[in-house]
Amino acid sequence: MNVLITGGAGFIGSHVVRLFVEKYPNYHIYNLDALTYAGNLENLVDIENKPNYTFIKGDITEEAFVNSLFGTYKFEGVIHLAAESHVDRSIKDPLAFVKTNVIGSMILLNAFKECWKGDTTSKKRFYHVSTDEVYGSLGETGLFTETTPYDPNSPYSASKASSDHFVRAYGETYKLPYVITNCSNNYGQNQFPEKLIPLFINNIIHNKPLPVYGDGNYTRDWLYVKDHAIAIDLVFHKGVNGETYNIGGVNEWKNIDLVKLLCKQMDFELGRPKGTSEQLITYVKDRPGHDLRYAIDASKIKNELGWEPSVTFEEGLEKTIKWYLSNENWLKNVTSGQYQLYYKKQYR
Ligand code: NAD
Ligand code: TYD
Repeated sequence: MNVLITGGAGFIGSHVVRLFVEKYPNYHIYNLDALTYAGNLENLVDIENKPNYTFIKGDITEEAFVNSLFGTYKFEGVIHLAAESHVDRSIKDPLAFVKTNVIGSMILLNAFKECWKGDTTSKKRFYHVSTDEVYGSLGETGLFTETTPYDPNSPYSASKASSDHFVRAYGETYKLPYVITNCSNNYGQNQFPEKLIPLFINNIIHNKPLPVYGDGNYTRDWLYVKDHAIAIDLVFHKGVNGETYNIGGVNEWKNIDLVKLLCKQMDFELGRPKGTSEQLITYVKDRPGHDLRYAIDASKIKNELGWEPSVTFEEGLEKTIKWYLSNENWLKNVTSGQYQLYYKKQYR
């Protein structure tokens, strides 16, 4: 089976690509990625020479190119992760998010539709990997379920909501076989150091300020990235067409409490006196339209597919910190821009 994974050089995508390449030697995994600032082939050095893996550098917004790929490889499964993914960037440049997240997703959907040819008996499937941010913000209580109305607040979440709607609409209108998952905040190894946890790890290493937005009382539900990859594998193989599944860590943290825990663990790992890193906390101007709280009700995927997070937050955070500390070259290459030369070296 030819499986197309988009955005496989990014954070979550690289974990999904690795899992599929290693677990399914009878599949051929094609990783299509434009290698934007967020794409890093160093994430996949350990599997890049596997016989069932092919990297394709390309942009999902280039229609003729995407159509020709589907024509050549006749993908039976598509797992679509390629996206612009950072809320702060979406506030500065919303159009880039519309281009990739909406138009790019549409181009993929159309290419898949052509390739699937309306054959309702086929096992082909389009899987859209989405976010819980499409549901907007919760107050102090309550959880997002699969039937919570969409209410996106940032250009990022609006673009993801839009692509979710198109996927669903293709399911209704053309009976296109699809699944969607909406997942909470991920953390773990290989996350680009612009997102909260890796940014703060990097800043602590270099004794730089930790910019906490607003009063720090914003809440997120954190999931270890490898548990997300396991859920994606499960939904891809066992999910029911036309269904949406919420994925979450059952692990809510106020930002400021998370940052204090991170500081404590970093002091321990770096052998610094207790309380050293906390002194770096700096309250800064809030993010505009900052969602107060995200929290997932993951009972559907648990009851129907048997998925639960396997790693506690303390374990996951410890693994993550240890990984960043023992892979300082990865961090250095990313922060210096060196990582963008890797493609040129490997794929001349
Ligand atoms: P990321 O920013 O780390 O990676 C995105 C990848 O997509 C990069 O490799 C990038 O090069 C590629 N890409 C971007 N534009 C492209 C284009 N036009 N054509 C081809 N490739 C392109 O993102 P991530 O955090 O790994 O997120 C992956 C997916 O999961 C996204 O769809 C995101 O919305 C979703 N998601 C992320 C989280 C999270 O916490 N990070 C949570 C839930 C859902
Ligand atoms: P982020 O990792 O950008 O994920 P998202 O916005 O998709 O939830 O941010 C997580 C939380 O941390 C969010 O409430 C914003 C906050 N935050 C900071 O306080 N400071 C920062 O420098 C960053 C990047 C995020």
